[in-house]
Amino acid sequence: MHGLFRSELSSVSKELPTIVVLASGNGSNFQVLAEKSISGELRANLKALIVDRPCGAVERAKKLGIEVEMLSKPWHEDLERVLDTLKPDLIVLAGFMKIIPERIVNKYFPRIVNIHPSLLPAFPGKDAIKQAFDYGVKVTGITIHFVDAGVDTGPIIFQKAIEIEEGWDLETLESKIHELEHESYWKVVSNLLYKAYKIEGRKVRSC
Ligand code: GRF
Repeated sequence: MHGLFRSELSSVSKELPTIVVLASGNGSNFQVLAEKSISGELRANLKALIVDRPCGAVERAKKLGIEVEMLSKPWHEDLERVLDTLKPDLIVLAGFMKIIPERIVNKYFPRIVNIHPSLLPAFPGKDAIKQAFDYGVKVTGITIHFVDAGVDTGPIIFQKAIEIEEGWDLETLESKIHELEHESYWKVVSNLLYKAYKIEGRKVRSC
């Protein structure tokens, strides 16, 4: 059984659970998580943004006063060192463009989550919004899942669909997907921190 953070915390201390966000790009999902934690709607201490390259997310973190950890090479060793130092309750991937090594996944499972802009298992990997759009699907959406050793293959926590309307171009779809991500990710993160759940094979169930 997982999702024990609340009970552990209430018996041990009154400190908020801690999260870190990993990103490589624009950082809009990171920004929402940071703003929600600053406003207190997400009751978590966002300890650091971890990046593998200079990117938009870093600029956003600076404006919000969030610590930034820039990974140095070899990045996976540095990531493990940073995680072991920060000891976050939850590791939140938000556009991190590297595959987390199995060693780290095994050490932290199920405390690493990812958001993917398609309804998995359809369109895993890069450019998922474009993949779905070019394929001509009528329904796509977002998936939030635990990270396992595969690419976008971990147990699914949350999905939400969007119907693609006639006349939408790729840019319209991208903005609808991002809107849905921003609305959903922080709430799912909050649930993972505060509600009990169990993972049975591929099934994630609340309990
Ligand atoms: C999001 O679409 C997310 O689903 C995917 O990478 C994108 C990151 O966007 N994993 P941003 O950097 O948060 O704006």
